[in-house]
Amino acid sequence: MVYTPPEPLPSGPLIEAEKKVNGFIVDSAVFVIDKLYEGRDYPRFYALETIARVPYFSFLSVLHLYESFGWWRRADYLKVHFAETMNEYHHLLIMEAMGGADSFKDRFFAQHVAVVYFWVAVLIYMVSPRMAYNLSEQVEEHAYATYDDFLKKNEEELKQTPACGVAVSYFQLGDLYLFDEFQTNVYDGLNKATNEEVRRPKIKTMYDVIENVRNDELEHVKTMNFCQKPGNLLRANSSIRAQRKAREICDGIVENDGEEEEEDVREECDLVVASEQDAEGEKSCEGVLDCIVKGFEERTISNSTVTDNTEMISNREEKREDTKKA
Ligand SMILES: [Fe+2]
Ligand SMILES: [Fe+2]
Repeated sequence: MVYTPPEPLPSGPLIEAEKKVNGFIVDSAVFVIDKLYEGRDYPRFYALETIARVPYFSFLSVLHLYESFGWWRRADYLKVHFAETMNEYHHLLIMEAMGGADSFKDRFFAQHVAVVYFWVAVLIYMVSPRMAYNLSEQVEEHAYATYDDFLKKNEEELKQTPACGVAVSYFQLGDLYLFDEFQTNVYDGLNKATNEEVRRPKIKTMYDVIENVRNDELEHVKTMNFCQKPGNLLRANSSIRAQRKAREICDGIVENDGEEEEEDVREECDLVVASEQDAEGEKSCEGVLDCIVKGFEERTISNSTVTDNTEMISNREEKREDTKKA
């Protein structure tokens, strides 16, 4: 299964150049890793997982920096990228449990590349988030293809090897809140309405483990791809779910028009109106300068939305009072 983006990404000479540079970085890194770890699958996966999770650290660091300066605040990006780092962290634990980090030489190489890659990703993300997300998409695509190939070549052996404990506890026994947060096929993931089932892996053998690690990489590819489209805003599944639930409460009130409403339900409905201000005036950010400019614009829009919502809520309160008196 190879992921095909639902819509083509924007193109142009600059975007094509960015992709080529990214392709060169990824191909060079893959060439070196494949040579150094030739014939040693788990150490190679350990190196991949150590390096592939680093861009999420970079995204989180830059987003926190923007927020600290008050330029740009995007809680949902922080939530989703953090969920992705925790997912990659568990992939790393799995590879360590399979002996991938046993050699000092392997750890030394992977960790030092990770430090350099962190700063490269920070710089690229500040200049062009689109390019940084594309770089990460290419890295995640490579991770997906690597695990897919490994599954095909070692199916029999993997199906006879019991799963490592850390994989069972992560995919099956643990709290899956953060796991659900980066899934793209449920809860209107990536702003699409879908009704697919929530992903709940069953882990018995190492085949199940690697298959789910591979499927996680595909979720990362989709998210990184989505983030490159101008104007797209990444929403966390938990935020979408909360908003949808709240809207259902409001819709219930609309249907019951004319009947007396319960106090707590009405309050929740008012909260929905107020919370939707978060979605007003939201913009994607195309780099550090853009974030500063949009951050200032957004504050102005957000303040006026608060005023509008407050007026709307007090008007509705007055109407309710009038209805009661009548
Ligand atoms: Fe991974
Ligand atoms: Fe990944």
